[in-house]
Amino acid sequence: MTKATFFATVSPGIEDIACEEVSDLLGCKATPDIGKIFFEGELESVYVLNLKSSILNRIMIQLCRGEFSDLDDLYRLVKDLDYGWIIDADQSFAVRSERVGTHSFTSIDVSRAVGQAIIDSYREAHGRRLKVNLDEPDVEFYALVRNQEFLLGVNTSGGSLHRRGYKVYMHPAALKPTIASAMLRIGGWKAGKSLIDPMCGGGTIPIEAALKVSGIPPGYLRKDFAFLKLKIFTEDDFWDLRSKILSHKAVECVAEIYGMEKFKQHLEGAIRNSEKAGVRKAIEFKLGDATKSFEYPEGEFDLVVVNPPYGIRMIPGGSPVRLYSGFLKALKERADGAVLVLITAAHRRFNEAAEENSIEVLEKRIILHGDLRARIFKCKI
Ligand SMILES: C[S@@+](CC[C@H](N)C(=O)[O-])C[C@H]1O[C@@H](n2cnc3c(N)ncnc32)[C@H](O)[C@@H]1O
Repeated sequence: MTKATFFATVSPGIEDIACEEVSDLLGCKATPDIGKIFFEGELESVYVLNLKSSILNRIMIQLCRGEFSDLDDLYRLVKDLDYGWIIDADQSFAVRSERVGTHSFTSIDVSRAVGQAIIDSYREAHGRRLKVNLDEPDVEFYALVRNQEFLLGVNTSGGSLHRRGYKVYMHPAALKPTIASAMLRIGGWKAGKSLIDPMCGGGTIPIEAALKVSGIPPGYLRKDFAFLKLKIFTEDDFWDLRSKILSHKAVECVAEIYGMEKFKQHLEGAIRNSEKAGVRKAIEFKLGDATKSFEYPEGEFDLVVVNPPYGIRMIPGGSPVRLYSGFLKALKERADGAVLVLITAAHRRFNEAAEENSIEVLEKRIILHGDLRARIFKCKI
């Protein structure tokens, strides 16, 4: 078994939750950074991580981490490494770069310098010139320049893991499944509990909740993981492991999961998404208004996890002020004592409504949902 250092990208604001998940999956300690986490493990952990992680976006094998002074320096750092173990002479590659801070060069310059250094290193060590393919590379390198820090990795995931493959219906204000999963972890979601998302839209939160308690790995619909093209990994090993993991899924869902939504079109979309995800039977969907306590499904709820409208892409004629206070009033009547985990960019409106309805905020955090600065609140109803 070969040891490797990994880093994984995550939505900024939930790095600590991502570290907890990696510790649970690999039994190792992970260290948070901004928008990413670092950890060590066996190279083969790549299979389990890509299949089972519900919070990470992209998982990279770290190739280099250090300080640099200018682009020539950066070129030297990258050229000093050997790439023969990760890429075949006949494979193509691309470098994707991100740059944070003030520099005299752009991220395109970083990609160019790193790309040239990889080509030169490979040619010196193996006598062949690697091909660049920016559209569909076999191997994708990720370079981050943050002030004077430099980080280089090889992408094992490909496209971000938040693209699970079950969204056959795309809700216009869909939540990223990775953020939904982090919210479920914040709420302590586990088998034996009951959960409702009373404004479920395309169903992301109940679907992620159902995948978790059914033992279905969030990445099981994906067949396009980047590691399948990396020469250090064996496709057969991965498919064997995947079959083994899938054979452990629960026969029956051992939790109560409800999704409610006011608009039929979204509810039907949520049902289609849950079918594609393989968890339709685990979720009870209901058309209903979250501000009317009598429209909630029967039963008791331990946990309410919800992504209400923020008012930015608000439903025509709606008012987030009235919606938030009406919603929290209904929750007080229908789920008194339950834990509420809610994400919103309209945090002032939420705070006012929470105070008005004597809902105690236990913790809050800022999170980037795409470009939007939102907050996740954990409350006692
Ligand atoms: C931000 S979206 C939720 C998106 C969802 N988390 C997803 O990933 O697809 C908010 C949803 O709340 C629904 N909604 C708004 N007011 C509602 C109400 N009073 N009762 C139930 N649903 C409501 C909207 O129709 C919308 O689908």
